[in-house]
Amino acid sequence: MNTQQDASKSVQFPRTVERLVSGQATSDGAGVKLTRVLTQNLQQRLDPFLMLDAFGSDKPDDYIAGFPDHPHRGFETVTYMLAGRMLHRDSAGHEGLLENGGVQWMTAGKGVIHSEIPQQEEGVMEGFQLWLNLPKRDKMNTPWYKDFQNNELPRFVTPQGVAVTVISGESHGMTGAVTREITQPRYLDIHMPGNTQFEQTLSPEHNAFIYVYRGEVSIAGKAVPTQRMAILANEAQSDGVVITANSDAKLILISGQPLREPIVQYGPFVMNTQQEIYEALSDFREGRLGETESSHN
Ligand code: CO
Repeated sequence: MNTQQDASKSVQFPRTVERLVSGQATSDGAGVKLTRVLTQNLQQRLDPFLMLDAFGSDKPDDYIAGFPDHPHRGFETVTYMLAGRMLHRDSAGHEGLLENGGVQWMTAGKGVIHSEIPQQEEGVMEGFQLWLNLPKRDKMNTPWYKDFQNNELPRFVTPQGVAVTVISGESHGMTGAVTREITQPRYLDIHMPGNTQFEQTLSPEHNAFIYVYRGEVSIAGKAVPTQRMAILANEAQSDGVVITANSDAKLILISGQPLREPIVQYGPFVMNTQQEIYEALSDFREGRLGETESSHN
């Protein structure tokens, strides 16, 4: 059986690049420096994804204070730590140490209050945080949380030597660590030796983008340099993407089924209406957001 080889011949009408995005330098939490790659003005275009932050620094001052207690409601956060150690604690009673190559998947649902604090005083801290929207029907679900260590993540290598970690969704016959029925998120970390190609089938209606974090790749003749996001065009006849590595390159590929529901964001709350935002704010102010069942006693 060689599903990789079969799948590598399956893209007949590859997508083109609609535009390149370089993101905005910003800081969040207690002053963590990061690049917001997927910003609020791209939420409709990249539905069901709401945000992508890339962080990477070897200067402790850029990350050491971390993200002290803060709330979330109405979506999921996926943190992928390429290098570094971060301790997560939340109001639903979950605690986990995220380390080199590990993934933390948190469904905020009706609400969590959590902290994410670096567990190192020097060295490199590098990774991504992706926000994935929840469908209206699931926004007030019970919070959910799971940590995956690097060696627990599904991984395959193509005959050309492209190494792919399947964080979520499906790729070349391999199912990722997390799957979601409605949004069908696909999240791949792809490590490509120079002059190799990688093909991934994509449903034409799924919104999709890549972010290159090492080296340079090309898609349909368009170069995508390091630290750039490329939004892939949703051409009706397209059936996937073909990525060519111009040098040794590392990138993430993210795609998903759009929800096409109203998006109303106020900071860490993402709901469908302004009224639901007011409710989230008053629940937070009055200590009801992030309450566990037992705290009602
Ligand atoms: Co958070």
